Amino acid sequence: MTGLETMKNRSAITLFGGTGDLTYRKLLPALYNLDVLGKLDDNFKIIVIGRRAYTPEKYIEIARDWVKEYARTKFDNEQFESYAQRIIYFKMDMTNEEEYKLLQDFYTFMKIDQHVYYYAVAPSFFITITNGLKKYCASNNAKVIIEKPFGENLEKAAILNDRLAEFFGQEEIYHIDHYLGKEMIQNILSLRFKNVIFKGIWNKDFIENIQITAAETVGVGTRASYYDKSGALKDMVQNHLLQVLSIVAMEEPTEEGSKGIHISQYNLLSAIKPIEDVNNNLIMGQYIGYLDEANIDPDSKTETYAALKLFVDNERWENVPFFIRTGKRLGDRQTQVVVQFKAVGDTPGNVLIIKIQPDEGVYFQFNAKKPGTEQELQPISLDFCQSCILENRINTPEAYERLLGACLVGDRSLFSQWDQIVVSWEFINNLLEKYHKQGSLLHNYEQGSMGPIEAEKFVNWIN
Ligand code: BG6
Repeated sequence: MTGLETMKNRSAITLFGGTGDLTYRKLLPALYNLDVLGKLDDNFKIIVIGRRAYTPEKYIEIARDWVKEYARTKFDNEQFESYAQRIIYFKMDMTNEEEYKLLQDFYTFMKIDQHVYYYAVAPSFFITITNGLKKYCASNNAKVIIEKPFGENLEKAAILNDRLAEFFGQEEIYHIDHYLGKEMIQNILSLRFKNVIFKGIWNKDFIENIQITAAETVGVGTRASYYDKSGALKDMVQNHLLQVLSIVAMEEPTEEGSKGIHISQYNLLSAIKPIEDVNNNLIMGQYIGYLDEANIDPDSKTETYAALKLFVDNERWENVPFFIRTGKRLGDRQTQVVVQFKAVGDTPGNVLIIKIQPDEGVYFQFNAKKPGTEQELQPISLDFCQSCILENRINTPEAYERLLGACLVGDRSLFSQWDQIVVSWEFINNLLEKYHKQGSLLHNYEQGSMGPIEAEKFVNWIN
């Protein structure tokens, strides 16, 4: 069954923010890949909303270059020509409610009545677009995909959720967290639950600590106006890294399908203990040179780095610290989960590293006898580099491709849920409030380093 058979043949995705970076870099290439793989129905259309006065030909010309550069599957002119037949550039001002009438007229003319709306725009437009759709496109059968950040805090997220709920049912709202679409994040489920060697020891009796790192070499780039109001905790931890934590630490789902996973994730997230002693459990940093970046407030106290230590209040994880760190302009681009197992007497514990990016793979370190007459030990390792194998790279969908494909067939398991967003915001809001109350210590760090040295005191980070 192809992806959209369930949606019959008058279906479309409408991309609000059609001339933005996300559409060009991620969405159009992802949809191209789905098309190449035969996962789009023959009559499926891609309606791209933009304010610029592009002719359809001009837009296709622009799209061609982006798809050529970013599509995972091999670019093929003929294939692209057929893909381009699906794309329709629709010029409108998405902030003008009345223009949604023209959009609806267009849908009617095209006989499209099954919709996915993708809000690939700044959050300040989410409500505006929803109001326009509500007024003129209300009769449509529709799902909506929403980008992060979902609100700037819990209160704003709740308002947004209420407004969306006036038009979309909760089951139709797909909160995209592209980390959940990453191959190795999905692989954590298989590693944990399909290997008896890990399944049985994934708990406080055998695990010393768990470290989740998302280190980036890039800075704020052109997103200063958003980032300076957000910072690492809201930009990366509230969503992506807490989601990763939930997959790493949740109980095995007892129900099949997305519902079971969501319940387990929610239970884990709501068991995270609020951090009381912020000064000893949170390190915030800002890279030297951040204040000189374009459009950054010269007095900005926004963190570009955060490292935190937290505990999960349940039987499995009693007294096991979880460390999360993320930062911009660090020495290495590296996202990984490290599971540090307990030592056996004086012998160092095993280490499991789930490599998420840029390399994808699994590394496991254990102890063995050093060859020779002495009874000496040495650490040895198994290092499986999944992405080193060409075939694996070809067969690994990009996060957006996987997520768009999942939404089209109504698979919600790869999307974060509103109840998870609420508890994640509660945790982060609470943490930030205490951080500001307790003196807002912000450490500077050199670009190209691994962040403030104060975070080294937390734990022996395994790089
Ligand atoms: C985004 C953040 O959600 O994720 C960015 O807003 C960050 O600041 C990006 O750079 C990281 O994504 P990835 O896939 O490159 O790890």
